[in-house]
Amino acid sequence: MCGIVGYIGTQQAAPLLLEGLTRLEHRGYDSAGVAVLGGSGLRSAKRAGRVRDLGDGLPRRFAGKAGIGHTRWATHGPATDANAHPHLDAVSDAAARVAVVHNGIIDNAAALRAELADAGVELASDTDTEVIAHLVAASRAATPEARVAEALARIEGTYGLAVLQADFPDRIVVARNGSPLLVGVGEREMHVASDLAALVRYTTTVAHLDDGELAVVTAGGFTTYRLGGPELSATDRPAEQVDVDPAAFEAGEHVSFMRKEMLEQPARAEAVLRGRLDTRFGTGHLGGLNLDARELRAFRRVVILGCGSAYYVGQMGATLIEELARVPAHAEAASEFRYRNPIIEPDTLYVAVSQSGETVDTLLAVQEIQRKGGRVIGLVNVVGSAIARQVDGGVYLHAGPEVAVASTKALTNMFLAFALLALQLGRVRDLSIADGQRLIAALADLPDRIEQVLAREEQWVPVAKRLAQAESLFFIGRVRGFPVAREGAQKFKEISYRHAEAYQTSELKHGPLALVSPEVPTVAIVPDDELLERNITALQQIAARGGPLVVVTHEGVDLGDLDPSSSTGPARSAGSGGSAGDARPEVTRLDVPRSERELDPILLTIPLQLLAFHAAEHLGLDIDKPRNLAKSVTVE
Ligand code: F6R
Repeated sequence: MCGIVGYIGTQQAAPLLLEGLTRLEHRGYDSAGVAVLGGSGLRSAKRAGRVRDLGDGLPRRFAGKAGIGHTRWATHGPATDANAHPHLDAVSDAAARVAVVHNGIIDNAAALRAELADAGVELASDTDTEVIAHLVAASRAATPEARVAEALARIEGTYGLAVLQADFPDRIVVARNGSPLLVGVGEREMHVASDLAALVRYTTTVAHLDDGELAVVTAGGFTTYRLGGPELSATDRPAEQVDVDPAAFEAGEHVSFMRKEMLEQPARAEAVLRGRLDTRFGTGHLGGLNLDARELRAFRRVVILGCGSAYYVGQMGATLIEELARVPAHAEAASEFRYRNPIIEPDTLYVAVSQSGETVDTLLAVQEIQRKGGRVIGLVNVVGSAIARQVDGGVYLHAGPEVAVASTKALTNMFLAFALLALQLGRVRDLSIADGQRLIAALADLPDRIEQVLAREEQWVPVAKRLAQAESLFFIGRVRGFPVAREGAQKFKEISYRHAEAYQTSELKHGPLALVSPEVPTVAIVPDDELLERNITALQQIAARGGPLVVVTHEGVDLGDLDPSSSTGPARSAGSGGSAGDARPEVTRLDVPRSERELDPILLTIPLQLLAFHAAEHLGLDIDKPRNLAKSVTVE
């Protein structure tokens, strides 16, 4: 989603801003811009399109040692040059005193725009952000921070923002309310960004602003204040060293971040499990929950909230919790939750799950639960993120920075964290020590199993290429396999832009079967579990209608006459040709190694990541930056 960068120090700002914006490209955006403040005043440049184009088009004289930059993801108004940020308080640089970049949404923008227009102000864009520049410029307060605070007092909505003011060339004012804002401390220079990715190249000493906080940033340091009262009161927020390897933000020798991140899964899985497997008592050890055994036992229900893929992994987690702890559990799309006036119960454990920790729909769901007295724990990847700070306890996912828009390693670690939580909830109830130990041993072994799945990548590339040819696909699964199918369809549509739809295998015959044809392949999740026979029956119904099948299953599972190796049956494998008039459907199987049944979903998910990746690669698409999508969705 939108990204912010800022710089003030001894160097020319523009190249550093462009570099920072490039680091934020993965967040998803449609236009970009920069403004600098130097001897000749404010200069700005902005355009729809890529950061590279913005850089190529910058005037030669674009000097200034303070500057701000932005990548925009359109909300108010289309992606045009005029709507790109920074926004100024005047139609030309020469007349401008204020430049603003902003993430978030101003809810009362229409009223403020009308008010400004009535006062004779000429507005240059369709955006909500532009009003901030005019409100700051209209303030007669003595200090730059008081001017920004006065403007913000008129604003309803969310923001992370950075402001340059020509009257105060030695400072940038930044503020946060619902959209992340970080200040990075360098040597006689300071950086500003909405995401750590833009800072780590320069510094890992960082202060995360809190909601309702403002900071004045100069080349020598920063001062923080609390917004809201009649006067700004100092908050004295310290900068802290973040434990992150800058190389983790580089793709290195990999063709894309997504591929790099998929391959990192065994190592990152080890990281989330480290120190959390209690072999002796057969349970998980999640200290950060801040819940003792008595409190854990008192919960009568678990409700899991997340968006997109995090929601689907939440569904996997709910099944695990019900199986292991025998507590009713379900997952819900966080984006819908607060709008149905949910009943919040004191004996329900609420779990918010998020890679970025900034997804505003999930954050708002957490706040709604807390407002009504509920207890929320978080499964979050980004340390210090908004959700991580908001929840009452939680588990960090230790997946490391995830840059590709399509989430892979963070989802795997979400599943593993759910497994640990389910074990912990189970072991304070009826789950036996033997079952606990069985699952702990399987979890310890899982990184190796993931490695084994990844090692089959090359064999599966032709299958992905075949699927890439289809305009429309089904992904099907049952019970534990259904969220796997949903996640598989999600990944496929996100990066290959094919219409991929997930169904419960059992529901196919109640409608979707009408669409099955030789042109519509089905990817079926068929674990070796109690539903195997029923799953095979459904596959036969698809095969009988000529629907090509890709069966993701366990080694050694007998698919009967559907098996590609079967000499008696009607099936043949994908890509094996088949003579004209041959009505036999294609069947391909992708085998994964076994684990314990409860842990099947994660090993079955990884082939689907690889299929999506290779389909998109075959189609020549920009895998790390799929169209219209953003890594971190910070608007409702
Ligand atoms: C899918 C994907 C999205 C995210 C969703 C939630 O590959 O990346 O569906 O899972 O936007 O994001 P987080 O986990 O950051 O809350």
